[in-house]
Parts: sequence; structure tokens; C-alpha cells
Amino acid sequence: MGQKKRIAIIPGDGIGKEVIPQAVNVIAASRAEVETAQFDWGADRYLADGVTVPPDGFAMLERDFDAILLGAFGDPRVRTNIHAKEILLGMRFQMDLYANVRPVRLLDATICPLKGIAPKDIDFVVIRENTEGVYTDAGGVFKQGTPDEIAVQEDINTRKGVERIIRYAFEYCGRHTKGDGSRRSRVLMCDKSNAMTHAGGLWQRVFKEVAGENPQIKAEHMYVDALCMQMVRDPRQFDVIVTNNMFGDIITDLAAGLQGGLGMAASGNIHPGKTSMFEPVHGSAPPIAGKNIANPLGAILTAAMMLAHLGLTTEADKIEAAVLEAVRQKKTTQDVGGSLGTREAGDWVAKRIGQG
Ligand code: NAD
Ligand code: IPM
Ligand code: MN
Repeated sequence: MGQKKRIAIIPGDGIGKEVIPQAVNVIAASRAEVETAQFDWGADRYLADGVTVPPDGFAMLERDFDAILLGAFGDPRVRTNIHAKEILLGMRFQMDLYANVRPVRLLDATICPLKGIAPKDIDFVVIRENTEGVYTDAGGVFKQGTPDEIAVQEDINTRKGVERIIRYAFEYCGRHTKGDGSRRSRVLMCDKSNAMTHAGGLWQRVFKEVAGENPQIKAEHMYVDALCMQMVRDPRQFDVIVTNNMFGDIITDLAAGLQGGLGMAASGNIHPGKTSMFEPVHGSAPPIAGKNIANPLGAILTAAMMLAHLGLTTEADKIEAAVLEAVRQKKTTQDVGGSLGTREAGDWVAKRIGQG
């Protein structure tokens, strides 16, 4: 038996504090050989002592843990959102978690807002660049508060950053199968190179180059505006999508809608070979926080994704099978058609795994 995997748990704010405990219970029910440690990083801690990330926090995570399970950050009491920026974006940037992998899978036809769509029709993955773009927040404000005010928000795209995420997408495509066992075979690059010619030009050139090295994989392209329309009109056509940081953020909320809503969507923030971080796609949802109504399944599927990444595939498969059954039997929260609370929905999945 291998050494136990060590997982850092950071629930964060709002519904993060409700859904992450459910994910942790489900991991325990799967009997995955893991050790966990909890961290209180988030708005409460920041408001209490001004600390967002403790000194050496990221180095500690990298040294002492195999993976990180994160909830969400964002609290109306912290109007600047500084803690979210320093914890969440800080982790992605400073730990260099360059590949934000967001699988988009429909588990049951009844939770898709589109007509005539079966689960097999929505099974794609968005690979989002996670360390560059407008998220670097480079730029500045000049003459603030005057009629001549200027705000500059730079879109930073490096050759290295663009190349590694596009290579990651082709490698991902070669390594992964769809839910029905068939091979992934296409990578679509999504950009806005018709308007943003400098950054878009770099993405176009690198994409062609890497595609040329991978002739077994079909390379496709779509502008981001057209892609949004196609995702709603005909999501069957997508396989692996690679895109920049901001477009990836936006299209994965749209894609979450196809899966039944933000409560269903999982993600990983990955640097191959290094401690990586896993979080549901949704945020802290302040209006529904503390009411035991948030859907825990996105967080639970995120936990499964993390276990699979750590090589605990049997446990990950058990969790996914139980979530699928919960959705089919409507043993879920209201947003996906059930009548259970957050805790009860999490418990149902945990119990189901115990029975399996
Ligand atoms: P949000 O994802 O929190 O909520 C958007 C909508 O989806 C809301 O209607 C919410 O009720 C619903 N929703 C989200 N998760 C749900 C769940 N698990 N179950 C049921 N319904 C769910 O996005 P927002 O409202 O734009 O942002 C709220 C705060 O969260 C902001 O501070 C934002 O910056 C932050 N945020 C953080 C993360 C993160 O930490 N990863 C991600 C997105 C947003
Ligand atoms: C996400 C979130 C974050 C992002 C926010 C909270 C900065 O929306 O993880 O999708 O834009 O990356
Ligand atoms: Mn987002």
C-alpha cells in the first residue's frame, strides 16, 4: 500500500463552508487513503487579523501536501475582494497552476435547460489558461476622478504561457476518453483574433505549430462569440476546448448552465507533477449561504477529480457513480430538481458509496 495522500482543505467563504465539508465526508466514505488538514483562509480570518495568505503559505502547501481542495472566496464584507485575489488568484499564479481543467458533462437529461439533449451529447472539457491574460491585472489608472481619466487593463500573453497550455490541451486530448469510453480526438482553440490581433496572432501561430506536431488530433478554431452561440445551439460538437484565462472563465459558466447549473461544475487547477488545486466552478453565492440549500455535487465531483488526479481512480469512480445515481433519483438540492438540503444531499451520496 502506498503512502497516504495529504490533502489541504480550504473551505473559504459563503457556501464554500457548506459544500466542502460534504465533499470531505464523501471522500471518507469512499475509503480513499488520505490525510486531511483544514485551513481557515478566507474573509472571516482576514477580517479578524488582516491575514489573507499566511507567510510562506503557498510554499507550505507545496511542501506538505499532494493536493488542495478549495471552496470559494468572496464576501460582501470585504468590498475590495482583496482576500479572494490574494488567496485564489495568488495560488494559481504563485504555485504556477497553469492549466484550469473544467470538464463539462451532463449527468441526466432532466437537468439540462436545452431541449432534446441526452447526457452523451454534452461531454467536453475546457482547458483554460490560468496564469496570464487580463488576470495579471497589469495596467493602471491615470487622472482618476477627472473627466480625462484613463484605465488601462493589459492582456499579457507570453509565448511560453500560450505554448504550454496548448500543448497541455493536445496531451489531454490524447490521454483521455469520453464518458462512453470513446477516444477524445479534437482540440478547438477559442479566441478573438479577429479583433485582438496581437495576442490572437500569437495564439494562432502557436496553435498551428502544435497542431502540426499532433496530426492524429483534429485541430479546430472558433471565435469566442460564435462559440457561445454554438454551445447553446449544438453542444454535441465540442470535445476539448483550449482558450485564454478570461474567455475560459466566461464560457465555463455558460457550460455549467448546460450541466444543470453552477452547482454541478467541477474544476482542477493543475501544474503537472506539482501540488495542484481543485475547486468547484461556482463562487461563494452570498445570497444562499448559510441556508443549507447550496448544491454540494459540484464540490463532490471536484473531490472525485482530485482523487483521480492523485491516482485514486477506484475511489473517484465510486464517487462519480454515486453522484450520477443521486441526480437520476433526484436525491439532490432544489436547483437540480430534488428537495434535499446541502447536508442531506451530501449524506445521500456518502451512504450510497457505503452501499456500493
Ligand atoms: P456564484 O457562483 O457565487 O453564484 C452565481 C449563481 O449561481 C447564484 O445565483 C448562486 O446562487 C448560484 N449558485 C452558485 N453555486 C451554487 C450551488 N452550489 N448551488 C446552488 N446554486 C449555486 O457567482 P457570483 O454570484 O457571481 O459571485 C459571488 C461571489 O463569489 C463573488 O464574490 C465572486 O467574486 C465570488 N466567486 C468566487 C469564485 C471562487 O472562489 N472560485 C468563483 C466565482 C465567484
Ligand atoms: C472562477 C472565478 C474566479 C475567476 C474569480 C473569483 C476571480 O470566477 O474561478 O471561475 O475569474 O477565475
Ligand atoms: Mn468564474
